[in-house]
Formats: sequence, structure tokens, C-alpha cells
Amino acid sequence: MNFFTVQILFLLSLLGLNVAQDEDYFCSKTKPCKVGCCGPLTLGDLGYCGYGPAYCGQGCTSSCGLKSECDGGNWGAQWSNASTCPLNVCCSRFGFCGTAQLFCGDKKVPTPECGGKSSDAKTIGYYEGWNLDKPCGTITPADIPLGYCTHINFAFALIDPKTFRIAPMDPNTASRYDAVTALKVRQFGLQVWIAIGGWAMNDPGPMRKSFSDLTKSAAAQNEFFESLITFMIKHDFDGVDIDWEYPVADDRGGVPEDFDNFPIFLERLRNRLNSSGRRFGLSITLPASYWYLRGFDIIKIEPSVDWFNIMTYDIHGIWDSSIKDLGPYARAHTNLTEINAGLELLWRNNINPGRVNLGLGFYGRSFTMKDPSCMSPGCGFSGPGKAGRCTGTSGVLSGLEIREIIASGATVKTDEAAAVKIVTWDTDQWVSWDDEETLKKKVEYVNKRCLGGTMIWAIDLDDGSSIDALGKGLGRPKANVTADLSGLPGSDLGTGPLNLTDQMLREL
Ligand SMILES: *[C@@H]1O[C@H](CO)[C@@H](O)[C@H](O)[C@H]1NC(C)=O
Ligand SMILES: *[C@@H]1O[C@H](CO)[C@@H](O)[C@H](O)[C@H]1NC(C)=O
Ligand SMILES: *[C@@H]1O[C@H](CO)[C@@H](O)[C@H](O)[C@H]1NC(C)=O
Ligand SMILES: *[C@@H]1O[C@H](CO)[C@@H](O)[C@H](O)[C@H]1NC(C)=O
Ligand SMILES: *[C@@H]1O[C@H](CO)[C@@H](O)[C@H](O)[C@H]1NC(C)=O
Repeated sequence: MNFFTVQILFLLSLLGLNVAQDEDYFCSKTKPCKVGCCGPLTLGDLGYCGYGPAYCGQGCTSSCGLKSECDGGNWGAQWSNASTCPLNVCCSRFGFCGTAQLFCGDKKVPTPECGGKSSDAKTIGYYEGWNLDKPCGTITPADIPLGYCTHINFAFALIDPKTFRIAPMDPNTASRYDAVTALKVRQFGLQVWIAIGGWAMNDPGPMRKSFSDLTKSAAAQNEFFESLITFMIKHDFDGVDIDWEYPVADDRGGVPEDFDNFPIFLERLRNRLNSSGRRFGLSITLPASYWYLRGFDIIKIEPSVDWFNIMTYDIHGIWDSSIKDLGPYARAHTNLTEINAGLELLWRNNINPGRVNLGLGFYGRSFTMKDPSCMSPGCGFSGPGKAGRCTGTSGVLSGLEIREIIASGATVKTDEAAAVKIVTWDTDQWVSWDDEETLKKKVEYVNKRCLGGTMIWAIDLDDGSSIDALGKGLGRPKANVTADLSGLPGSDLGTGPLNLTDQMLREL
């Protein structure tokens, strides 16, 4: 490797490209580029890979004429697919989109700052309707802790890929809708929303295309809207949370049209909900990573939704091992530094922070570490952590299970900058999660950034300690709760006569 090559590798590393596989960015007569065009062979037998006229134009060796993702040098449409980058991130002079200094220079993102108590406004707890399938650590609807959540989102209902009507996950989950919405009579003002979708709905299988097909057809949407409204009235839900994971992303079954179709779908849904005669809420979940968030036209979506629930957890996990720029190294899954960077994607697009609820995990992501003498963040892992006794899935542990592990002897360390806890035990087991202390730090962050509140995944993964700690840290008093199911009135969303079609009335 000569000095010139080392310089290029250094430049590539500043670009955030993985120089460990440096040969990917070099090409020769016989070896084309993986990314970009093979430019002139200026390094002896080698050229390097890039975009724009310097690499793809005159003197180009192979893969010539490709277009970059953004225009890094006023090249024009001949050399780039778009002039700017998705989500208003920066374009480097090599034609790559990103947020690091080499892409953006000294440009600063206008970030909201306030010192209020905005976290008091909303606490949205997701409830996994299937949690009773676990052998232990389960929470029945009647056992859901009341008083601190302003909203419970029932996860999940699905969408039938043929009729586009709302569909149950399975009969057991569906049998619990009414018991959860019945909690509204025990806690005055509580709202219960139905969450539709979830990660697994977009796994390979019959429902992988449900969202894409639904959002591209007005007729399918009308069918969905009618079935959703009758469903919500029948089971006494107050709103709907759309969890599409993820539009556009081809690894998640998405297609490019999703980008334009999703905002139109949400606008039509909003209008249809409003004409029902009830005041139904509407929200969507958002990923915190650029990779998936770029499939959402958040600027066009914002006016149609009451709020965004941003999934600021699962930022790292066992899957890192197959991501070229990350690799098999233990990182915390709810790292505040990375959460802050993720939210900057929203601020780049002038999203109102009051419409954003910060996701909090009541669970941890775990690893089995490679070398018991290297147990700090950044040390290597050999695989997922051992399955918990109730959740039974390697790589993840519920809050309840982590508290049991700590109680029977584990080392707990606080990472101040990341605002997370790292728990290690059994020589090689490692999990990152949030306890009362780091939940408090995250709530302080919600206040600092003027966000609309918090969202929890999920209230059934807790033994009651985390929701208590979170609730006690709020300025809002604990809502009065009664055991008497005929006592308090539930939330009052009925604003006038219902406006339903005859067909919908028949289905009720
Ligand atoms: C530019 O667009 C073409 C056609 O859609 C696509 O195949 C190519 O991957 C895009 N280039 C980049 C760098 O995204
Ligand atoms: C009643 O619903 C229909 C659509 O089903 C809508 O066109 C009409 O505007 C609604 N009326 C009111 C008062 O919202
Ligand atoms: C729908 O109703 C809400 C109040 O419940 C209102 O804030 C919103 O502007 C309405 N949207 C449309 C599109 O009518
Ligand atoms: C948190 O994220 C920052 C930035 O990516 C990283 O430097 C730090 O090591 C992370 N901390 C943990 C505990 O994963
Ligand atoms: C709960 O009830 C008590 C006694 O009736 C009352 O003083 C308090 O304000 C109530 N709290 C809330 C949050 O409504």
C-alpha cells in the first residue's frame, strides 16, 4: 500500500465507509466496483470507486455512467439520482448522503431546547396482547398497572392481505380487546388505542405486502376504514396507532411507492375518522435510524397524525454482527447519545417536538460475550445472551427477568453518557437496559427537548417497578383508580351522533 492509497483510505474512513474491507473501494480491469463507478486506473493497476464525472465520466474503467444518491458537486441529473438527500441529511462531495462532519461541514441542526415538564403530558404503554402465552411473568388485562399511563396501546391487530379488513393476530389475543378497554372505567380519562402492524407482520409471509397493497388502493383503504371504525366502536377503542415496519425498505417487504402512498393513506384515514362522529386518535410509530426512517415522508405525514411514537430502543442487538460498519461488539440498545442523533433527523425536517413521544424499553438486549475478561461496551460478543426463564428468547430479557438476575447477584454499571445500565453475570452474560435511574435521565431528556411525552415497550415486560419509577418521576399526580368496574366514567370521546353507513351498523 503506498502513501497515496493510505490517504484515500483515510478519506473513506472519514466518510464513514468501512475501510477494513478497503478492497471494496478499489477496482481494476478485472475487478469492478461494489459501490460506484471504477474511475481511471490512476494507482498503477488500480482505480478507485466513486460517483460523479470524475469517476463515472471520461476515463472511467467500468460500471460507468452510474448515478449517485445525491449531487455532491453540482453535477446535475446526468450524474445523480437526486439533487438532495432523504430527510434533509447532507450530501458529501463524493455523492454520498450522511450526517457526519465530512458530509455536513459545520452546519448545525436546529435542535429544540426547553426546561419545562413536557414529559408529564403523555405516558403511552404498549400492552402485548399475546404475553399470556409465556410460561411466567405474564400480565392479564385486569393486572395492568393503572394510574400512570394516559394511554394503553393494545398490540397488535393485523390487516387481512385479501379483504384489507382489520384481522386478529390469533384468537387468544383477540379475546382480550374488551378486557383492556374495560380498564377505562377504572381509571378516569384513560384512553385505549389499537396498534396495527408490528415488526412480525412484515416478516416473510402472507401479510408482508398488506400495508403496501392497502396504501396504493383507494378501494382497499375504504374497506379498511369501515372495518377499523366498526372494530373501534364495537370494542370501545379511542384511537389507532399504525406500526408499519417499514415502508419502502425492501428488506422489510416495502416498495418505493410506499413513500408517496403512506401520507395520502393517513390523510384519508384522518378524514374518515373525523367524519365518523367520534373523536378517534391517530398516531404512527417511527424508527430512530436513518436507514428505515428515510422511507417515511414525515413532513407530509405530520399534519394527519396526533403524534409520532419513536422507537428509540433496539438500536443495537445481535443483528449488529452482520452489519459491515458495526460488527459483533456489545453496544447498549437505548444509548442516549445515539437517540439524540436519531431525533436530529426529525429536527432537520422541522417536526414539532410536542408531537414526538420518546420510546422507553422495559426490557434489555443481551449478549454472550466472547472473552469474560472483556465485558465493557465495545467488547466482542460471540452470540445472543441466554434466554430468560419467562420470555424464552435468546438475546432479549424482560425487565422482570433482569431484576431477578440482579437480585441473585450481578454487576451493575451505569454508563452516564449513554444513560443506560450494563448488567453482567454468569462470567459471560451482558445486558443493557434502563432502570429507575436511567429512565429518569431519559425523562429529563424528554423535558429538555420539549417532547410530547413518553411511550413504553411494553408494560407487560415489567414487574411493576419500572412503571412505578417512571410514574413517580412525573409531575402529574397518579390518576385515581377504582376496582369498581361500574364506578368512574371512561374516557369521553363521544362528541355527537355516530355517522356510520348501514353496512357498518349491521356489523356492530
Ligand atoms: C440510482 O437510481 C437507479 C435507478 O433507480 C438505481 O438502480 C441506483 O441504485 C440508484 N443509485 C444509487 C446510488 O442509489
Ligand atoms: C358522514 O360520513 C360520510 C362518509 O361516510 C361523510 O361524507 C359525511 O361528511 C359525514 N358527515 C358528517 C356530519 O361528518
Ligand atoms: C380531525 O379532528 C381533530 C379533532 O379531533 C382536529 O384537530 C383535526 O384538525 C381534524 N382533522 C381533519 C382533517 O378534519
Ligand atoms: C453510545 O454511543 C456512542 C456514540 O455512538 C458510543 O461512542 C458509545 O460507546 C456508546 N455507549 C454504549 C454504552 O454503547
Ligand atoms: C384523586 O382523588 C382524591 C380524593 O378524592 C383527590 O383529592 C385527587 O385530586 C384525585 N386525583 C386526581 C389525579 O384526580
